[in-house]
Amino acid sequence: MEKAPRSLVLRATPFFCLLLLSLLYTVEIRSRQVPSNQWKKTYPVESRIQDQNHLDLVLERLLEGDSQILLEANGFACHSDIHTEVCVSNRPVRIDTSTMTVYAPFSEGMLGASRTMSPYARKDDEVAMARVSPVQILQGSVIAPPACRYNHDVPAVVFSTGGFAGMFHEFNEVIIPLFLTTRHFQSRLSFIVTDYRPSLVDKFDKIISHLSSYEVINPAENGNVHCFPGAVVGLHFHDNLAINTTVVPEGDSMLDFKQFLRDSYNLKIQELSQTQTEKPLLILVSREKSRAFLNEHEMVTMMKALGFRVVVAKPHMMANTENFAKIVNSCSVMVGAHGAGLTNIVFLPEGAVLVQVVGLALEWPSTHYFGTPAPGMGLNYIEYKTEPEESSLISRYGRDHPVIADPASINAKGYQFYRAAYLIEQSFNIDVVSHCVMVLDSSWTCCKKNPDGDEGYYPALSTGMEGDGDDDDGDYDYAPAASTEDDDDNDSGFDSTLAA
Ligand SMILES: *[C@@H]1O[C@H](CO)[C@@H](O)[C@H](O)[C@H]1NC(C)=O
Ligand SMILES: *[C@@H]1O[C@H](CO)[C@@H](O)[C@H](O)[C@H]1NC(C)=O
Repeated sequence: MEKAPRSLVLRATPFFCLLLLSLLYTVEIRSRQVPSNQWKKTYPVESRIQDQNHLDLVLERLLEGDSQILLEANGFACHSDIHTEVCVSNRPVRIDTSTMTVYAPFSEGMLGASRTMSPYARKDDEVAMARVSPVQILQGSVIAPPACRYNHDVPAVVFSTGGFAGMFHEFNEVIIPLFLTTRHFQSRLSFIVTDYRPSLVDKFDKIISHLSSYEVINPAENGNVHCFPGAVVGLHFHDNLAINTTVVPEGDSMLDFKQFLRDSYNLKIQELSQTQTEKPLLILVSREKSRAFLNEHEMVTMMKALGFRVVVAKPHMMANTENFAKIVNSCSVMVGAHGAGLTNIVFLPEGAVLVQVVGLALEWPSTHYFGTPAPGMGLNYIEYKTEPEESSLISRYGRDHPVIADPASINAKGYQFYRAAYLIEQSFNIDVVSHCVMVLDSSWTCCKKNPDGDEGYYPALSTGMEGDGDDDDGDYDYAPAASTEDDDDNDSGFDSTLAA
């Protein structure tokens, strides 16, 4: 018994050596990268939003160019791009939450105008937007605005939680847009959440309460006329799991977002160097229904033999965001197949490594949803592109079937066919032996070189490791928490966005 695991481990080592290597490499690089505590720059503490002038400044930053000029002139203007629409009023508005009608200000002599918009940052996605209730904005309407029932002394920010469910979409289309749109209000704002999804609002309670000191208004429960000194309808969106610091309201970056998450969840570890390095913690994101690792135990054995402590993150562990964030925050490496669970990289320390296992035909979404954003979060990214033999599809269809040989032809038949084959049906048998041998020559040497001379980092063979004993067969679809949510989203994945 001694021999088999030993040779397995030795031959399997290169792949993870690569990880280790980049771990070490990273620590160095990171210290040269973007300073991460630049996020207080614009509003010093003393300039609290106490009066309309301050409020004006805060609201103006949400627009640029012509729309900013229009806002100054008329007290109301909108920004529009391919992803989203954001309308801003820096004068008093009335919002009738029973009809979601916003009575916006207007100037003398201005013609009445009415527009309808959907406050969700996925304007270019019909499937998502079909789930978002429109908000009507009236300017200079012939109908007199109704009387105020509630008077607020902070502006309203209106957004919908009606789009896609699932961890990825929640962060991508709600939480990050919320952060980049409202962070500079310094919690002096009131959220009005349309298509109110209790699961989302509860799950991200810590985040929402860090962005607003006021209770969230759910129009479905509070249909009334609310008056505000100003309002924002809709959220800015920059890119998938990304913030462009040069775009309004400029300043924040994904590193600032991560700092904000650490503040919200009381996470301690900002940088990899703050973790215990003698036995780095690796988190293996375990999927159970689709894109599962069929030989997960073998992978875990190897990882442990290499000297990692291994956490196998089962879906049920992710249901409690706060607890799970703490676990992820102590990890040096995350390994997982492409899927919404990888969104948890937002909690990894800077300098950590994401290894995304990219299955057959999953290159495009893997790159666009996680590969490209990872460096913006201060992470190192390694793509583990599976060989056809590592995909479960090959034993089902055989090597010559179009599903294996010509994924483009499956995609051409329509998204549902693509999704069924590659996202739903596909699982993996990770070849911990051969695949790793491929990189042996190039990485083995480097791997043995340990800059810290800390041999404990690469303990030769502390084997005899079993799995982690967790055989729970929790319900896990694409979205980690979806199974515990009251959402009616059958496709709580990236559905309509994977078409390319
Ligand atoms: C950020 O936005 C600016 C202005 O729109 C654009 O020129 C630039 O390419 C964007 N950067 C990234 C990384 O997308
Ligand atoms: C989800 O999809 C399945 C099969 O596609 C269907 O039978 C089921 O009714 C759907 N559930 C919901 C809630 O839409």
